[in-house]
Amino acid sequence: MAFPKIRLRRLRSNASMRRLVRETTLNVDNLVYPLFVREGENLKEPIKSMTGCFHFSPDTIVAEAAEVAALGIPAVLLFGLPDKKDEIGSQAWAEDGVVQRSIKEIKKAVPDLLVITDVCLCAYTSHGHCGVIKDNKVDNDATCELLAKIALSHAQAGADIVAPSDMMDGRVKYIREALEQNGFHNVAIMSYAAKFASAFYGPFRDAVDSAPAFGDRKTYQMDLANARQALAEIALDIEEGADIVMVKPALAYLDIIYRARQRFDCPIAAYNVSGEYMMLNSAAEAGLLDKQAATMEMLYSIKRAGADIIITYFAKDVARKTT
Ligand code: PBG
Repeated sequence: MAFPKIRLRRLRSNASMRRLVRETTLNVDNLVYPLFVREGENLKEPIKSMTGCFHFSPDTIVAEAAEVAALGIPAVLLFGLPDKKDEIGSQAWAEDGVVQRSIKEIKKAVPDLLVITDVCLCAYTSHGHCGVIKDNKVDNDATCELLAKIALSHAQAGADIVAPSDMMDGRVKYIREALEQNGFHNVAIMSYAAKFASAFYGPFRDAVDSAPAFGDRKTYQMDLANARQALAEIALDIEEGADIVMVKPALAYLDIIYRARQRFDCPIAAYNVSGEYMMLNSAAEAGLLDKQAATMEMLYSIKRAGADIIITYFAKDVARKTT
């Protein structure tokens, strides 16, 4: 019966036909571009471990943000690198901290560009862990209190969305309460809900100097083998008040994105992390594959798995090709 009546190649016979029946679209509307800001003036320093990415200072980040907005990308995700680190990461919630000042500058110059902020301690603590250390362990509840302070300081500076990336239990609840109590009803939370302890963060940790000085992040970030537990993490974050939930990394965890899409109705973000970005860049630099085609293929796989939003260092490249 099937052949020759059914020939699926008919629907692939030319570019217009293929466009007509395309099931998934990759749109600049759903991309978020991460940006790195550090203390200083007039800085635009290439990040050695991440091709095409830079450290900016709060004055130079404005022009970059304007360029991102002009490309049609709706949001940036800000990461900060302080001059001074300490045991508890106090620069993370400083009113004149590098992220807080950058948020103000960006919102003043490019008000329509959404500013999302990474809420974490690892780049601010002398030991590089994502929380407060007590008896050689990361203390959950004490860390949540500090995370709420960081998120509030970002909201006060004008952030549209705060994104906790630490994986403490209950931190979304602490943050939601702090925002509500201070009148920031419309500041959204994008939680790094299912964040795995991954080797793919390597290039990023070089960029923000956040590798842990002892141990690893396996007592708070998820075990790579767990899918059901990832759904439990996501369900809890939604219950605690997350508006958008994230799966991270993306490529090695497409099954988690797919399962989350089946189960939950809120927007799902996927973080196409630094190691994924550099894996592709390194292969392209070695002349092994076509960078543009491979980028699109990689991002489409994340979309097809079910992500609504993709956070990616490729966002500007994609925008240049699709707008
Ligand atoms: C901070 C944080 C990390 C990343 C985003 N937020 C690093 C980590 O958890 O060690 C990784 C981003 C990337 O690799 O692109 N906790």
